Amino acid sequence: MKKECDLLIRNIGQLLTLAGDTPKRGEEMSNLAIIENAAIASKNGEIVAVGREDKIIEEINLLKDSKEIDANHKVVTPGLIDCHTHLVFSGSREDEFYLRIEGKNYLNILKGGGGILSTVDKVRKASFENLIKNGIKVLNNMLSFGTTTVEIKSGYGLSIKDEIKILEVIKKLNEEHPIEIVSTFLGAHAFPEEYKNKEEDYVNLIIEEMLPVVKEKNLAKFCDVFCGEGVFNLEQTERILDAAKKLGYKLKIHADQLGYNSGAELAAKMGATSASHLEYISDEGINMMKQKNVIAELLPGSVFFMGKTNYAPAKKMINNYIPLTLATNYNPGTCAIKSLSIIMTLACIYMRMRAEEVITATTINAACALDLQYDVGSIEVGKKSDIVIWDVNNYKQIPYFLGLNLVEKVIKNGTIVFQKNKRGF
Ligand code: NIG
Repeated sequence: MKKECDLLIRNIGQLLTLAGDTPKRGEEMSNLAIIENAAIASKNGEIVAVGREDKIIEEINLLKDSKEIDANHKVVTPGLIDCHTHLVFSGSREDEFYLRIEGKNYLNILKGGGGILSTVDKVRKASFENLIKNGIKVLNNMLSFGTTTVEIKSGYGLSIKDEIKILEVIKKLNEEHPIEIVSTFLGAHAFPEEYKNKEEDYVNLIIEEMLPVVKEKNLAKFCDVFCGEGVFNLEQTERILDAAKKLGYKLKIHADQLGYNSGAELAAKMGATSASHLEYISDEGINMMKQKNVIAELLPGSVFFMGKTNYAPAKKMINNYIPLTLATNYNPGTCAIKSLSIIMTLACIYMRMRAEEVITATTINAACALDLQYDVGSIEVGKKSDIVIWDVNNYKQIPYFLGLNLVEKVIKNGTIVFQKNKRGF
């Protein structure tokens, strides 16, 4: 029997399927499972057939009023997945950007009440509607760069009321915007001013009040902690993550970001889904993450944006079979980059990753970091019809043409949600 479909994308030069629903590691990260002269058929937002065009045409029955897209022999990939962002906030921090260029240190700015705390102040004062408006603007930009799934963390509220406000904003954005959103509770992002010198009280507030109420309202899938000097120490991080795990959250950790602090080892010990940053990861951390299948979320945009050179040892991690993801880490302090293609370029240049590896890191591996590997991240029958058509001759041009938006069309759940105009903008 022929498969019914309401969307057919045909004449695809290179279709990067990324087939799979487990994180790719080692050499597997370079296998994009490419089909040439391909077509994709989907119905009601779900992929029903993928393969060589001549074969697919035989298999399908195009329904009345269905849509047909000619990809003009260009490159097609799964919708990109940005698995680490802090995109719900108010205001901007360009002053801090220039202070850092003059030599000021990120943690000293935070100690003085600036940095994350200055954004907390603005978010507490911002209305729900304003946060939505800002969020939609950022999501629109991201969509135009080919991102169809994004993770967003709270962490600029740091009180029960304000953390809930951010998580409710994230929920509403998910309902209103085509990009699919996964929500993470990051109440442990910094110690708020009112808990200065009462840090244990804030940790207790997170454990005893914030985690249960966020869970009860079903506002977050993951719990994350910024573990490091000047923020949450190892013992505090472990207590928070332990409580979160008992309540049924999946875990993430900001680990070894501004210095080595055994964060990667703790992520492995706690059975976290992923650990992020990892610029200062130890050999023991690499070994333990490998043993416990912890996914690494690498964020080269932040190292670049902070004018540093200590990129995470991506090659070493790949050689040690740790599955890598790449994300923008879009936030007002350490990274104002919203485009995953720019992140791919940075990863190629500064972390010596291959074109194939950076594409895997922003598709199927990123889906695994969000526990969405059965729905998105690859182009396969049964998965969501989340697809990007790129205006390039071959996929190696995606990280190569730095700074250009090469995205021609974005399809989310089988619907075109972005397309370039005739002049290519
Ligand atoms: O991932 N490390 C913690 N959080 C962000 C920075 C947030 C901010 O400075 O506002 C990061 O780099």
